[in-house]
Amino acid sequence: GVDLGKLMSQTGLVTLDPGFVNTAACESDITYIDGDAGILRYRGYPIEELAGKSNFIEVSYLLIYGELPSQQQYDAFAERIRKHTLLHEDLKQFFDGFPRDAHPMPVLSSAVSALSTFYQDSLNPFDKEQVELSTVRLLAKLPTIAAYAYKKSVGQPFLYPDNSLGLVENFHRMTFGFPAEPYEVDPVMTKALDLLFILHADHEQNCSTSTVRMVGSSEANLFASISAGINALFGPLHGGANSAVLEMLEGIRANGGDVDTFVERVKNKEPGVKLMGFGHRVYKNYDPRAAIIKKTADEVLGKLGANDPLLDIALRLEEKALSDDYFVERKLYPNVDFYTGLIYKAMGFPTKFFTVLFALGRLPGWIAHWREMLEDPARKISRPRQVYTGYPERSYLEIGKR
Ligand code: ACO
Repeated sequence: GVDLGKLMSQTGLVTLDPGFVNTAACESDITYIDGDAGILRYRGYPIEELAGKSNFIEVSYLLIYGELPSQQQYDAFAERIRKHTLLHEDLKQFFDGFPRDAHPMPVLSSAVSALSTFYQDSLNPFDKEQVELSTVRLLAKLPTIAAYAYKKSVGQPFLYPDNSLGLVENFHRMTFGFPAEPYEVDPVMTKALDLLFILHADHEQNCSTSTVRMVGSSEANLFASISAGINALFGPLHGGANSAVLEMLEGIRANGGDVDTFVERVKNKEPGVKLMGFGHRVYKNYDPRAAIIKKTADEVLGKLGANDPLLDIALRLEEKALSDDYFVERKLYPNVDFYTGLIYKAMGFPTKFFTVLFALGRLPGWIAHWREMLEDPARKISRPRQVYTGYPERSYLEIGKR
């Protein structure tokens, strides 16, 4: 075949594609999306099956290593993660440096970036064992970092991980537990969190994953690349949307729950007014993850005994949008984030923390893509071109003559 990219660069031609709407940056075996049909598969397995039958550790293994693990492989992987949940004691001091009201996302990305200073024995992207070690360290330590970011924000003492617990249970305990009190696993909470992590675990070349691949393409280490991905996820058009949805629903409630007026404001394109949690670059149909979450939201909110008036607003908003020409013509459907905020809120997480939960779920996908990229023989440093639209050549004027 002809290498079109090479041919075009030799002839000086470039394609202008803002937002990479039509540009594939790589080949990938990890995740398949059919946006028109609303299909999502990890390594060939439909998301609905994984959501119903698997768990987050197993899905992480599947994404990173390409196959479902045998029992033995699963046990060894889970055990290895268990052994790495502790943070270096000096890293704990790090959290004291942030203001109490710091947003947990930059705390998370800073701490992950700092991991490369504490774990210098796992930075070489071309040493298989070091890559395994940084993979396991990240999977094990990100929940601990996230829980500490939460504890710091509410002024409570940090809890060391309890390695008799599974990853999700441990995270839940470190977040909501207290040192002197026994922790009781709430199976409804931890099962729902596990499911949400599975649903967020990968989504091919989204903004944060592309960022991880781009940073990694310079052969930067895994911690540095994931830290960059966390910062990309922070934006309200990406992972930050789950917090923004809740803020939107609360705004509507404060205005007496008037969904119609809000939708009119969206349609009039008032600056800064969007239907958050709606629309997607790839899905032009119902996001299959949103369909699973909508079912779960009802179940979880019911079981947690939370009678949240925001759920009613969300349901009315969805119904209104799905029957309105503006949204129908533009193929705008609820995405994964439309209902997650309500579940996280019912679980007791503050709004600011929602995007951190997204990061915990997306981590195995980021790692899988970083590894796939580095193993790709066709790999090149990411370096897009541009179409220059500035001044033609002009002469420098001394400061007194300008
Ligand atoms: N509310 C109102 N109008 C919208 C919305 C929305 N949520 N999303 C898209 N539109 C409109 C646009 O204004 C545009 O209209 P126009 O053709 O009249 O100009 C049209 O639909 C196409 O939208 P684009 O912005 O071109 O679509 P794009 O693929 O660039 O953006 C995105 C996708 C960023 C997700 C967008 O739909 C959006 O901003 N949604 C709200 C934020 C959100 O929920 N993000 C989470 C995404 S999922 C995730 O990261 C997990």
